[in-house]
Amino acid sequence: MEETKEVVLITGCSNGGIGHELARAFASKNCFVVATARSLTSMSDFEDDPRFFLQELDVLSDQSVTRLLTNVLEKFGRIDILVNNAGVQCVGPLAEVPLYSIQHTFNTNVFGPLRLIQSVVPHMASRKKGKIVNVGSCIALAPGPWSGAYSASKAAVHSFTDTLRLELRPFGIDVITVVPGAVTSNIGNSAIANYSQMPEWKLYKKFEEAIRARAHFSQGPRSTPAEEFGKRTVNAVLKEKPPAWFSTGHFSTIAAIMYYLPLFIKDFILRKRMKC
Ligand SMILES: NC(=O)c1ccc[n+]([C@@H]2O[C@H](COP(=O)([O-])OP(=O)(O)OC[C@H]3O[C@@H](n4cnc5c(N)ncnc54)[C@H](OP(=O)(O)O)[C@@H]3O)[C@@H](O)[C@H]2O)c1
Repeated sequence: MEETKEVVLITGCSNGGIGHELARAFASKNCFVVATARSLTSMSDFEDDPRFFLQELDVLSDQSVTRLLTNVLEKFGRIDILVNNAGVQCVGPLAEVPLYSIQHTFNTNVFGPLRLIQSVVPHMASRKKGKIVNVGSCIALAPGPWSGAYSASKAAVHSFTDTLRLELRPFGIDVITVVPGAVTSNIGNSAIANYSQMPEWKLYKKFEEAIRARAHFSQGPRSTPAEEFGKRTVNAVLKEKPPAWFSTGHFSTIAAIMYYLPLFIKDFILRKRMKC
């Protein structure tokens, strides 16, 4: 095995999503990519390519993470970069979304990455080397109606990533928040599939159309192609001194501006946009 090549472990690499394109972009930069997904068939196009080591992973399961790390360390002896990309959207009004859906969102988006981080950090710390990339969302900078559970989970990701950047510095580990704007992926379709499991709204019946539309909010004609997003992100992550915060994609600049707006202006814009 070539010692100079970085070994990159990425979660949520199903075809059509951001993780898949990150995997492709890291591979094109001479990295070994441990591409993981809940189902291997969702990465079948990588099957015969020696740059990829394909593994099943459910970020909700301790057992699945332990098995993965054993396999990866056995094969490569190291993990240089961990990318916590897997995530789920959760659409619905916060006062009525069932608690189990909110918990599932936090389990996947917050505790999933933390589970991987806690497993990988001892290994990286022992080598005094490593990078951890956590994928947040620009919606956490301007959290509006109809996706409160998701925005809150991504705000938590931003927050714990800031802490980890400081806490892991003494161990030679760089920690990077990647903040996508609107990027083409399967997230809209998955969100609608989850939404169809929601109970009928009680107070929010008259908002049903606007709520449902939120599922596809990031998937408009001007969304940034995942391939482009993947290439830009990988260029930033592979820098010798990677940025602490990297945000790109349609809507990312607007979201960054909105973050600094007075709340009454931000609320006015979001109420108009989300028909609330
Ligand atoms: N697309 C955007 O506009 C956008 C904007 C901001 C942030 N993001 C973030 O970017 C990341 C990638 O999302 P995406 O847009 O590429 O959506 P996506 O196409 O739906 O991909 C999400 C990936 O996460 C995987 N996943 C979900 N639950 C999992 C679990 N329990 N264990 C392992 N993998 C799991 C999915 O696997 P399955 O295929 O098996 O469901 C899929 O591979 C997410 O963290 C998302 O929140 C996306």
